[in-house]
Amino acid sequence: MADERLRRLTVEFGQLPCDPHSRNEGRFRRFGRGVLLPWNGEFHWMPETLVNMPDGTTCSVNHYQQGMHNPEFLGLVRNMPGLTESIRRNSLLTELIKFDFSQTTWSEVELCWPIHVGVHLIRLSVDSPGGRAVATPDMLHQDGEPYAFAHLIYRRDAEGGENVIATPACAGSSPDDVAPESVLDRFTLCHPLDSYGVKDDLVSHYVAPVTVAAGAETAERAVLLIDFTPMTQRA
Ligand SMILES: [Fe+2]
Repeated sequence: MADERLRRLTVEFGQLPCDPHSRNEGRFRRFGRGVLLPWNGEFHWMPETLVNMPDGTTCSVNHYQQGMHNPEFLGLVRNMPGLTESIRRNSLLTELIKFDFSQTTWSEVELCWPIHVGVHLIRLSVDSPGGRAVATPDMLHQDGEPYAFAHLIYRRDAEGGENVIATPACAGSSPDDVAPESVLDRFTLCHPLDSYGVKDDLVSHYVAPVTVAAGAETAERAVLLIDFTPMTQRA
């Protein structure tokens, strides 16, 4: 692997803790937050909440809420394991955040506020040939954040994991149940740093479950998700 920073990120993805909200769906993840200052391009990680564990140790978490956008967790605040110091210090991650932000457009008013940056590290893992790992929600949906970007970190012995982009009206449906003309694109991220981005209000999106390729015993698909939301004055 040419970039040592990508190699270190890959190691971190291999060690992600289980998503506490995954019901044996093979999902492992961490979540962190930062702010990007549009007027000077600076990015800063935000502090994480420390939670006392039953064994006397502390662990960092971040609260994640998708409001009404994820039908599987309607209105719920999900506690996610926070980022490690090694992830927070990874300059490739910071470069990707700044590159993604450079692909977005905002109003003059929005650019006077910090932009909230959500960073999800998600690995779908299948540990037996007949199994499958499922992203949430398992349907076309919108995220609620104005822009979201996905960067493949790696894929190993995986089948499936196809991405589908469709019209906004398809949110809530399976790609199999929508009219073919409503599907705008289908593609599969195959190589490290294969990427795509969506302007959330213009489309709905989906990723199919991951299964194990013929002849293999297990499979993995690791993806970095970065989203942007402008901060505003509380009403
Ligand atoms: Fe999504």
